[in-house]
Amino acid sequence: MNNNEQKEKIELEKKKISDNISQIKHCIVVFSGKGGVGKTTVSVNLAYGLQVHGFKTGILDADITGPNVPKMTGLTGDVNTNDGKILPQISHGVKVISMANLLPANQAIVWRGPMRSKMINEFLGNVDWESLDYLIADLPPGTGDEIITIVQNMKPDMAIIVSTPQEVSLIDSARAISMAKKMNIPKIALIENMSGLICPECGHRIDLFGSGGGKKQAEEMHVDFLGEIPINLEARELADQGKSIIFENKEADMSKAIFHIVREIEKKYN
Ligand SMILES: Nc1ncnc2c1ncn2[C@@H]1O[C@H](COP(=O)(O)OP(=O)(O)OP(=O)(O)O)[C@@H](O)[C@H]1O
Ligand SMILES: [Mg+2]
Repeated sequence: MNNNEQKEKIELEKKKISDNISQIKHCIVVFSGKGGVGKTTVSVNLAYGLQVHGFKTGILDADITGPNVPKMTGLTGDVNTNDGKILPQISHGVKVISMANLLPANQAIVWRGPMRSKMINEFLGNVDWESLDYLIADLPPGTGDEIITIVQNMKPDMAIIVSTPQEVSLIDSARAISMAKKMNIPKIALIENMSGLICPECGHRIDLFGSGGGKKQAEEMHVDFLGEIPINLEARELADQGKSIIFENKEADMSKAIFHIVREIEKKYN
């Protein structure tokens, strides 16, 4: 393929993506500098929360080599196709697409950056999202190829950076914030996750990873602060069973924190 043909192919792919996602009002990317801070937990629960508030919502699991969204949403089995388009699966009304449902269980995906980016373009251009109010992309940790691909092609209007209050996580989230700024994502916001643990026995608060660092960082870096999510042991156990605390225990501190953040997000689009 010569240079011109290659350019034409790229333009065609971009056009296909922008046509396919033209009925999605708001695209949000969720990322962090560090792994394991709760990106998938935040993506899934915010999507559920927005859906509960009456917004049509989807989740695009952009973690191609470590897809965890199906595990947390309790979705098993293969996806179907219709007319050559991939049909998302549905969890509590939320549309979900993930690499985990496209491959046999436990199969490792060892792909270099360009292949991962190609799959993300497939999720954007060839999944039957129809019309949505919000599409939330759960990104892999770090600042790799997928983030550039998704920002260029999905054109998100908000980046949510998840951090724990721990110094090492905050250092990495500063990098993630500056990456979002460099990529000109219009709204950039921070969530502090694993922010304190209320002892289920005595009610005493333990700041396992410290607290307040996220809010301070958001202020210093001039981005919005959406709120703090506490550590909740019940939520972790439920997540492992593919269930969400916001449906199982509405009164839990974590459920209230999620709905507070959902309202903050809604306000940003008013
Ligand atoms: N607020 C919380 N309370 C209790 N457990 C939590 C909380 N947030 C996340 N977890 C648990 O911590 C683990 C890691 O969370 P999660 O998978 O969401 O992180 P991640 O940032 O998406 O990780 P990765 O970088 O591997 O994609 C999970 O077992 C999840 O259930
Ligand atoms: Mg994850």
